[in-house]
Amino acid sequence: MLKQELCNMAIKAMENAYVPYSGFKVGAALLCESGRVYTGCNIENAALSPTVCAERTAFFKAVSEGERKFVAIAICGGKNGKIEGIFPPCGVCRQVMSEFCPPSFSICLVSSYDGFEETTLNTLLPLSFTPEFLR
Ligand code: THU
Repeated sequence: MLKQELCNMAIKAMENAYVPYSGFKVGAALLCESGRVYTGCNIENAALSPTVCAERTAFFKAVSEGERKFVAIAICGGKNGKIEGIFPPCGVCRQVMSEFCPPSFSICLVSSYDGFEETTLNTLLPLSFTPEFLR
C-alpha cells in the first residue's frame, strides 16, 4: 500500500473525531504486517482525562483484533478538521507505539491534503523504555 493512500485513510478517519472541547480533530490509519489497516480518531470526554488520541484508538483497535506487527501509521489533524500542517504525536502515543513497534516504524505526518512528512519512531522517541527491559 502506498503511504499516501494510508494518509488518505487517516484524513477520512478524522471525520469521526469526537471533539466537543478542543475542536481539534485527529485521524490515524495504522498499517499492519497482515496488510490490514485500522483507523482511529480522537474521542474526548467531559472529565477530560479519559480522552483518547486517534493514534491509540487505532492501535487498540488493531491489538484487540490480534494484530501485533505494524509497518506504518499516518496521522493528520487540525482545528475544526482543517489540515494546515503537521503536528507531533503526543508522548503517550509514542510510548504505546514503542510497546509494539521497532525503532524503524514509519510515522507519516500529514502536511496537506496531498502531502506528508515521513519520520520514524526512533526519531520521535529515542532512548525509549521498551518491553526488553522487563525480560
Ligand atoms: N490528540 C490526538 O488525538 N493525538 C495526538 O497525538 C495529540 C492530541 C487529540 C487529543 C485531544 O482530543 C485533542 O487532540 C487536543 O489535545
